[in-house]
Order: sequence, then structure tokens, then C-alpha cells
Amino acid sequence: TTVEHAADDYELGGHTDFMRKEMAEQPEAIARALRGRLDERFATAHLGGLGLDPMALRAVKRVKFLGCGSAYYAGQMGAALVEELARIPADAEPASEFRYRNPVVDPDALYVAVSQSGETIDTLAAVQELRRKGGRVIGAVNVVGSAIARECGSGVFLHAGPEVSVASTKALTNMTVSFAMLALLLGRVRDLSAAAGARIVTGLRALPGQVERVLADDAEIARIAKRYAHARHMFFLGRVSGWPVAREGAQKLKEISYIHAEAYQAAELKHGPLALVDADMPSVVIVPADDLVAKNIGTIEQVKARGGPVIAITNADLPDGLADEVIRVPRGEPELDPILLTIPLQLLAYHTASVLGRDIDKPRNLAKSVTVE
Ligand code: G6P
Repeated sequence: TTVEHAADDYELGGHTDFMRKEMAEQPEAIARALRGRLDERFATAHLGGLGLDPMALRAVKRVKFLGCGSAYYAGQMGAALVEELARIPADAEPASEFRYRNPVVDPDALYVAVSQSGETIDTLAAVQELRRKGGRVIGAVNVVGSAIARECGSGVFLHAGPEVSVASTKALTNMTVSFAMLALLLGRVRDLSAAAGARIVTGLRALPGQVERVLADDAEIARIAKRYAHARHMFFLGRVSGWPVAREGAQKLKEISYIHAEAYQAAELKHGPLALVDADMPSVVIVPADDLVAKNIGTIEQVKARGGPVIAITNADLPDGLADEVIRVPRGEPELDPILLTIPLQLLAYHTASVLGRDIDKPRNLAKSVTVE
């Protein structure tokens, strides 16, 4: 049930492993995804591969993202972008659930099949089910010529370049970047103003440089990872735009360090999981500089009051001494925050796994692509 990647297919280019190499490649990967697709003049994006003209784009009544693992979390970030920029209902569902639950297929919806490899069997089956029922489905795929790309026939290629590490980094980043462009396009054929569109275009252009700055924080994140690597369990907490970021962060930590990590919507903490918080249960709290900062500060205080260590990932100004550790990312356009806030979580998982001596590129029990039932 696995596809083995021959590690010697690609050079490590001086890096110790592929995850490290692929994290480092993110600025150039983002630049590739944006190339030729941003339109400054009309403050929109061009995604020719979608095969949808403005009339067809305007006819889309809702958007649903389908994928597995990190591709599903990227889809959740994409759904938030579509709702914010285009103001049409959007959501994400694991393709593995969708394919088995006899879904109601909405003829007015645009379905987006999200996959790095383009070979994940559950995502492919979801696409086939959609096509059988007359649903309109496009791909958001990295590997050109892959099964899902061919089955969809149209979509947006991610241009992340080859990804070898089981833990997805640059492909996930490019998924979210691509969804920001899709959301911009859907927004600009509706009521998103030229000024707001221009703000997103500028924000996207700034991303490669900003990601570079987050990656430069490597030594500090390595220090933090070392300090908490002994933990048996960790919480990842976020609300609204921070919630899929928390889920992706927990997933990364689980898959490569084997530390049990659970993501919760921050406000749900008090409905049960807070009982688990003590000095041995660190929490990573995602704090975007949005209008929920005060709420997230409240979450950090609740965790601290129970003796729980807190690592804050933020682009907001937090009160001094609030969290035990603060990892800052640059401030950009708020809608794009999840992209930048995800990067330190890759590094945190990476360095934790490294301290624990894990096989980072090939975690136990996992495969890069799950292509067989
Ligand atoms: C596997 C990998 C994950 C990946 C998921 C979806 O489970 O271990 O890292 O997110 O498949 O892969 P895809 O190629 O469809 O994006």
C-alpha cells in the first residue's frame, strides 16, 4: 500500500534530509506558484487551467475542498479564504469520508480535489464519485500527469517541485497559496473591490520574503523544540483562521516525532480538554493578529493558570511574559496569516523529531502516497 520514493532520485543539495530541504525551498516554490498568475492591473488572479470563464465562476454557489491528511487541512484553509474573499459558502471534508458516505452532490458547487501526489486512492475515488454524479470537480495537484490530475482534466497545478519527505511542507504551502488565488478570482467576479483585491495581490507577492524570515528563526525554534521534546502529549489550539493551522501543526508533530498531539478549537478547551492541562502538557497556541487576539490571550491565561507551558505562534503584539515561548512571524494581509503561521510549526515538528532521533523523511507506519485500499 505504499509508494517508495527512491531517495537518490533527487539531490539533497547539502541538506541533511528532504524535509529540511523542502522547507528551505518554500520561498522559491511560492514564487513559482505565483508566476504569471497575478494581475496587478485588474487586482485579480489568472488560473487558466481551471477552464472556467467569468460566467461559470459567477455561477458557482459554493465550494468544497476534498483531500486527505495535510491536503485536507490545506482545504480547510482554502475554504476560509473563499468565504472571506468571495463570500460564498465553502468547506472542506476528508476525501476518505466523502467517498464512503453517499454524498449529496450539488450541481451548483465547485469541488476541489486537493493532492500533492495526485495518486491518493481516497481522493481519486471521491473525484470518480463526483464525476459519476455529475459534480463539477477541479484538481489542485502537484504532480503533473498524475491520476487525479488526469481524472479532473482541469484545475490548478501547485508547482511546488518534487516533494520526497512524507511530511508535506512546500506542497501544503503552495496548496494554500493556490487557494488564495482561487478565492481572489472568485471574489473579483463578485463583490470584492479592486482595492481589496490589490491588497491580496500585494500580500501574496510579499510571501516568499516573509517565509524566508520565518525560516531564519530556525535556531530559536530548535531551542524551543529541545526544551519541550520530552513531552508525551501536546495541545495545539487555535480559533477561526488559527484552527486549521493548529490541526496541521498537531499532525506534523504526530507524524514525525510520535508525540501525541491534539488540536482543539481554543474555545472548546473549557468544554473538556482543559482537564488534561498540567505542567507536563504544553500547549502551542496560534494567535493571528485579528480581532480575536483578546480571546486568544484569554486562552493562554487559562492554560497558564493550570500550570500548562505555552508556546505562542503569533504576528500580534502579546503582553510580555504572557507565554513561556513566543515565535513571531511577520505581519502581512490578515487573510494570508495561516500560510505564515504554519511555517514555524513545520520547524517545531522537525526539530522535535530531530532531538528524538526519529527518521524524519520516513516516519514509521506511514507512506508518502497511500495509493491502494
Ligand atoms: C499521506 C501522507 C500525508 C499526505 C496525505 C495526502 O497520508 O503521509 O503527508 O498529506 O497522504 O497525500 P496527497 O499526495 O494526496 O496530498
